[in-house]
Amino acid sequence: MSGPVARRRVAVLVSGRGSNLGALLAAARAPDCPAEIVLVLSNNPDAGGLALARAAGVAAEAIDHRPFKGDRAAHETALDARLRAAGTEIVCLAGYMRRLTPFLVNAWAGRMLNIHPSLLPAFPGLDTHARALAAGVCLHGCTVHLVTEGVDEGPILAQAAVPVLPGDTEAALAARVLAQEHLLYPAALRMVAGGTAPPPADPAAALAALLPRP
Ligand code: GRF
Repeated sequence: MSGPVARRRVAVLVSGRGSNLGALLAAARAPDCPAEIVLVLSNNPDAGGLALARAAGVAAEAIDHRPFKGDRAAHETALDARLRAAGTEIVCLAGYMRRLTPFLVNAWAGRMLNIHPSLLPAFPGLDTHARALAAGVCLHGCTVHLVTEGVDEGPILAQAAVPVLPGDTEAALAARVLAQEHLLYPAALRMVAGGTAPPPADPAAALAALLPRP
């Protein structure tokens, strides 16, 4: 007879509304989910994600970056201490809007995931939906990747694609992508926490595979 599933302790970092956090919380309610959300942290005391976590009975704290007056290392040291005190094994960034320094990235190397609203390596950075529309791509989507020092450059764990439809607005495209984010992030976390994730893809190799051969 198999016993209860071993659950990895997961912390989620948010800065805003937290709809991806909501999807992760919902998925972690399944008894067979190998991930348990034990802590939600935010740099923004007004983040909707904090209220969402508390409503779900999950410990949620703001560690406001502003009192640190630009000392990113000190702010990240405070985050790191809280993550460790909670026995965190995996960190999920879910709309965490502060650029991380090598300190936190390296402290959680291989154990920190991010969701990005584009098919990386296309459109790293901000305003991905507007840029996808401006570029005239016919496929767009979202990516879950491991966090490395380069912004949105880490090894890719999972992706979901959506079509760009004629007449799409930025809002319509964003909503189509977000619906996929809410499916993709829980699925990727489940794979990582359960130890069933395939080896991550190298984004540079993925890009090379898309380019025409000489
Ligand atoms: C999402 O689009 C995510 O891909 C990006 O930030 C947004 C966060 O949205 N990293 P939410 O706070 O999860 O609703």
